[in-house]
Amino acid sequence: MSEDGVHRYWARCHWEGSTGAGYDAYDRAHRGVVVPARNPIDLSSDPAFLGDSQRCNPEQLLVLAASSCQLLSFLAVAARARIDVRGYDDEAEGVMPESVKPVRLTAIRLRPTITVGSGHSPERLAHLVEVAHRECYIANSLACEVAVEPTFRVLGYAFGDNEVARQRLTLLAEVFNPSSRPLLVEHAPPRVRLAVDLGCGPGATTCLVAEVTAAERTVGLDSSLSFLAAARAAYAGGGKEFIEHDVTRTPFPAPVSAADVIFARFLLAHLPDLAGALSAWLAQLSPLGVLVLEETETIETANPVFRRYLALAEKLLATRGATLHPGAALAKLATSAPARVLASQIRQVDVPADRAAELFALNLAAWRSDPALEKAPQELDRLAGDLDELRMTDSGTTGLGQQVSWHLRQLALAPAVE
Ligand SMILES: C[S@@+](CC[C@H](N)C(=O)[O-])C[C@H]1O[C@@H](n2cnc3c(N)ncnc32)[C@H](O)[C@@H]1O
Repeated sequence: MSEDGVHRYWARCHWEGSTGAGYDAYDRAHRGVVVPARNPIDLSSDPAFLGDSQRCNPEQLLVLAASSCQLLSFLAVAARARIDVRGYDDEAEGVMPESVKPVRLTAIRLRPTITVGSGHSPERLAHLVEVAHRECYIANSLACEVAVEPTFRVLGYAFGDNEVARQRLTLLAEVFNPSSRPLLVEHAPPRVRLAVDLGCGPGATTCLVAEVTAAERTVGLDSSLSFLAAARAAYAGGGKEFIEHDVTRTPFPAPVSAADVIFARFLLAHLPDLAGALSAWLAQLSPLGVLVLEETETIETANPVFRRYLALAEKLLATRGATLHPGAALAKLATSAPARVLASQIRQVDVPADRAAELFALNLAAWRSDPALEKAPQELDRLAGDLDELRMTDSGTTGLGQQVSWHLRQLALAPAVE
């Protein structure tokens, strides 16, 4: 932008040939370049006007400009609103009826499919699309109508929250509660007024936290209504309660403030902003409170079926900007967070092949409908079959080489002393 506040754009077009033989005979091919970009664009006219369909024509460029500008405008509006946009695919169309004189594009229709992280209502997203449209420089420059008809895909918790997912989390708790218990025993303060279990799922971890800390109140927070319903049915009462909340948003709901213990296990693997979560959660502690975290550092197995499963899980989480193994990054962040590191250690949990296969198999159903994996149904079918076989094997005979070893990063953090 120059000092007068005016943005200027330059483009060059080059054609050479001969129009001497008349309208039907000359070559429409030409090259365009926008300065200072170096890559030229091969151009022609609409094939209806004797152009080349393999090159773009100016009418298409106009439609593309409207589409691109709305995309950029929306990303900017969404980023300012702290919405995590993960994908944007537009199918744009322009219409130019020859019956309207002088001939011109009379309407452009943009049909973007916008993929966002969890926790955003379609109403809010539609409002932001509208704001982006109002701010779109190209739409504002055009005389023709530009309509935006968005479709939203909200990425939920990657591993689903139906009955099968609930069973998986129940099994997960059976396998991993024995490693969480001593961590909580060691670091819970002697008197706990309020303990909070973030990403509580169907409540087994909340129950563990309540039992170990003997808290007066223990609150499980989760964004899944169906997990919360299961948690309430199984564990509510006796000081335990369950509240719907997106844990990336703080402060936590009103009754949950100044917690003496905040616990989260296998949750940060689903969140894109580890540093943001860490500092936000530390700020929710009471002055003598402790944040206790348990996340995967590495998962080791020699079994090729499990390795295929783990590669797919990593791919799925990457579409949400998250990772299956946040442990090491978390340990590093903890050293620079506004916190005292009371513990940062690795604990190994060895899971026999049949159990690991059962845990993994329960996820596959939820993955089938995920945009990242829906195009790989055969791979999911093959994996389901292979996991089934491993599930049937007797863990005693599968041997050490077949087991899956989780190395869990266990952290206990206290707020930094002022
Ligand atoms: C792998 S499960 C872990 C459940 C439990 N902590 C355990 O270790 O057994 C992750 C849980 O986090 C929840 N979750 C994921 N993202 C969340 C968010 N942004 N806010 C609240 N809960 C979330 C999911 O619904 C799910 O219940």
